[in-house]
Amino acid sequence: MEKLTHDVVIVGSGLAGLRAAVAAAKFGSEIDVAVISKVYPVRSHSVCAQGGTAAVLGDGDSFDLHAWDTVKGSDFLADQDVVEFFVEQAPKEIIIQDHWGCPWSRTDDGKINQRPFGGHSFPRACFAADMTGFHEMHTLYGKATSFDNITFFDEWFVTSLIAEDNVAAGLTAIDLKTGEMHVFHSKAIIMATGGYARIYEFTTFSHTATGDGMTMAYRAGVPLKDMEFIQFHPTGLVPSGILITGGARGEGGYLVNARGERFMKRYAPEKMELAPRDIVARAETTEIQEGRGLEGPYGSYIALDLRHLGEEKINERLPLIRDVAVKLSGVDPVKEPIPIRPAAHYSMGGIHANMRTETAVSGFYAAGECSCLNVHGANRLGTNSTTGCLVFGAVAGEEAAKYATSNGFREVPREKVLAEERRIFDGILGGEGDERVPVIRDEMRRVMSEKVWIYRKGDELESALKELRKLKERFQNVRVEDKSMTFNTGLVAALQLDFTLDLAETTIAGALARTESRGAHSRPDYPKRDDENWLRHTLAYHTREGPKLEYIPVTITKWPPTKRAY
Ligand code: FUM
Repeated sequence: MEKLTHDVVIVGSGLAGLRAAVAAAKFGSEIDVAVISKVYPVRSHSVCAQGGTAAVLGDGDSFDLHAWDTVKGSDFLADQDVVEFFVEQAPKEIIIQDHWGCPWSRTDDGKINQRPFGGHSFPRACFAADMTGFHEMHTLYGKATSFDNITFFDEWFVTSLIAEDNVAAGLTAIDLKTGEMHVFHSKAIIMATGGYARIYEFTTFSHTATGDGMTMAYRAGVPLKDMEFIQFHPTGLVPSGILITGGARGEGGYLVNARGERFMKRYAPEKMELAPRDIVARAETTEIQEGRGLEGPYGSYIALDLRHLGEEKINERLPLIRDVAVKLSGVDPVKEPIPIRPAAHYSMGGIHANMRTETAVSGFYAAGECSCLNVHGANRLGTNSTTGCLVFGAVAGEEAAKYATSNGFREVPREKVLAEERRIFDGILGGEGDERVPVIRDEMRRVMSEKVWIYRKGDELESALKELRKLKERFQNVRVEDKSMTFNTGLVAALQLDFTLDLAETTIAGALARTESRGAHSRPDYPKRDDENWLRHTLAYHTREGPKLEYIPVTITKWPPTKRAY
């Protein structure tokens, strides 16, 4: 077992991880930065971000307006001090990306173009056609590779975070090429491992989005926050679930039911298709449940009609989704509506951290989707996610570098490393039980999709929790067929499943406890928002018996909760 030593170690190489790496490396050439990723960096899920990155750039827009849209979109669960900081930092990140070479789409007079997006009351989504994340990622990766003080560990799988006396000490990670475990010693660690919507089957997420970093933090004693809030994107392509960007509606696309009606007039008469996602996803679900969905070989669906935009505009603004719809659904949006329905898309919850990305463990930071910094509350607005990765990735990189300059390395206790080796190589890889990873994984996804989807009722959540706990027990008896060491994808799948089972459990526990409807969390048995009892964040602490829930208040600065209508 090799011991690797770096001042700042970043886990995850998506937008937040790469932005953090550049910020830490720029902080001082003496800071030695490592980025560990289970995939080659530009295969991180951030490349799938399509529609844009929100920021105030143009005349007529303002920080207060962006903040208000975000707070109202969050159904008042966002911490308003964090939102104010976020919107003020956002434009700088757009300009930094521009200077580093991001090929933003431009207006005729050469300015960065911005499109309308759901829940925003001003066109503030900066975009690069419908491949915004792809271009931002390549811009950042190019920049990161220009630093001599950043080392990449591609295709290494981090398995645990090690903290001693509430101070970060290091990580254990498997080099997937050799199958060997190594220990990273570091002064500061940043988790930037993305979301976990792969607890569901119908999702816009890559197969790699299994929330590993969240579970590692949780098991190391850092609470997870607001895990009951999962976002369902209104336009997942049928049947694959691949994202059809909200930018399609931003460019003027319509949502239509089987009667040819633009049904959003009943749910959000002013904003129509550009209402926030929670509202549009619920509207689509209601249309389908009440028999007004279209019927196809893969069940009921809603039609996204872009035909009136014309071929030229579709090709210029939405080339990726045209290609995806043709290749994966056999539908050309220039000629026919695209079949869509809501798909699991984003986790508002994550590692509990403050606006400086600090957690309860000193020297341990979290940024991007794996974190919950309280910007998005109960429902994130489209295009605020990539902004969050850039803004808070930069904050995390600087904070971690600062911490590393004034703190030393901690000892990584040998017994913790040996215990992790035994857990993985003797327990999971050596296991000879009769359970199989894909079977348990599919069962988890079935439970989550049937009982913890857009609408969740108390009795279904209770039954989901029981089923999930049985699955966790069954996992103890799992057998990985492939016992080899080189690129053992069976072992990786088992480790990922183990992580997601904990995350599914915290999601259900939080949803069961929260007896109200707010943002993306809809309880038909408690249909109203209840500010008196539930204007608070959920914290889930890891215990042997399952998550222990506690609550902390929401920070209100300028915008007291009011009725939320669009
Ligand atoms: O619809 C989209 O392009 C997704 C954007 C987002 O999740 O922010």
